[in-house]
Amino acid sequence: MSIKSWNINEKMMCQNDAPFCIKNGADGITHGIVKSGEILRRGKKFTLYHKNVIVTGASGGLGRELTLCLIRDYHCRVLGIGRNEQRLRETAELLGDAADRFRYRVADVTRREDWQALTAEAAADGFDAEVLVNNAGMLPRFSRFGDYTEEEIAVGIETNLRSVLYGCRAFLPLWEKKQGTAIINIASADALCPLVGTSVYSAGKAAVKALSEAMREEYRGRVYIPVVCPGFIRTDIMKGQRRAVSPLVNAASMPADKAARVILRRVNARRPRIVLGADAHFMSCAFRIAPVWSLRMFRAMMKAWRLALFADIFE
Ligand SMILES: NC(=O)c1ccc[n+]([C@@H]2O[C@H](COP(=O)([O-])OP(=O)(O)OC[C@H]3O[C@@H](n4cnc5c(N)ncnc54)[C@H](OP(=O)(O)O)[C@@H]3O)[C@@H](O)[C@H]2O)c1
Repeated sequence: MSIKSWNINEKMMCQNDAPFCIKNGADGITHGIVKSGEILRRGKKFTLYHKNVIVTGASGGLGRELTLCLIRDYHCRVLGIGRNEQRLRETAELLGDAADRFRYRVADVTRREDWQALTAEAAADGFDAEVLVNNAGMLPRFSRFGDYTEEEIAVGIETNLRSVLYGCRAFLPLWEKKQGTAIINIASADALCPLVGTSVYSAGKAAVKALSEAMREEYRGRVYIPVVCPGFIRTDIMKGQRRAVSPLVNAASMPADKAARVILRRVNARRPRIVLGADAHFMSCAFRIAPVWSLRMFRAMMKAWRLALFADIFE
């Protein structure tokens, strides 16, 4: 796909005989989709191409793959956030020649002061952020709610919800009057259909989904705010679990690079709500059809399959 600056009044052709191309205006907003010189869709449209993007959790898993894909496929500049500097450096190494379009900052997304420092330092560095991907998150161990410690609940809610609130509060005031901006919030399929053993995680992610949907309408036409609800993705997120991840869960998980590609393609198509993976679609449909019985069915399935991850819940 070839991209060049384009005036909406110009007659245009795609380069290299590409069947489709997207034409960006100088303001960074896509103004039309072209097929063999003919405008198929006209009107202002958000595009990811050539954006300055902040990705939280760029030190591993989905956040790292989103970073690689944003830089390689969408020609973005990315500021990656994480607590583990060594792993942020590894993300840079994976980029090879394109590493000059990546920079990182060690920060904890659960700390408001880290967000304040981030906005100030990014501006001072000449990094004019236009897109924020609130991806950093964690999965508390699978457990009945009453068996969580106060600390486990606090860490779960702070990492999965409070960090998103801080991120949105830091950037929305700067972006309200700026064109082509977006906040992409990574929730989970658990926000659509909470599974047993995931009460704290589901509560945080459902709140992120509700927050994103309310803000999407409040800022419609100014800031694009999609919510992403993925099913299982193959990353390190299960590392903190006491029990082994069964081969069934691994087999049902989507590879992280594929998940990143699909998410960004749908973001670029300006989808408001992105449900990812057959498992997530199944959970979402079942919950909408039968909000009570679907949860009982999933509970029965986890028990019947004797998945180790859920063992503490059925003891
Ligand atoms: N994997 C799945 O099956 C799945 C399914 C649905 C939704 N999700 C969501 O997708 C997102 C990414 O998860 P993942 O699977 O890629 O998990 P992961 O492999 O465990 O990666 C989590 C990332 O978040 C960062 N992070 C965690 N706490 C942080 C903090 N306080 N401050 C800064 N960075 C922090 C970690 O970086 P540092 O360790 O360097 O801080 C790491 O880069 C999460 O929001 C998760 O809930 C995942």
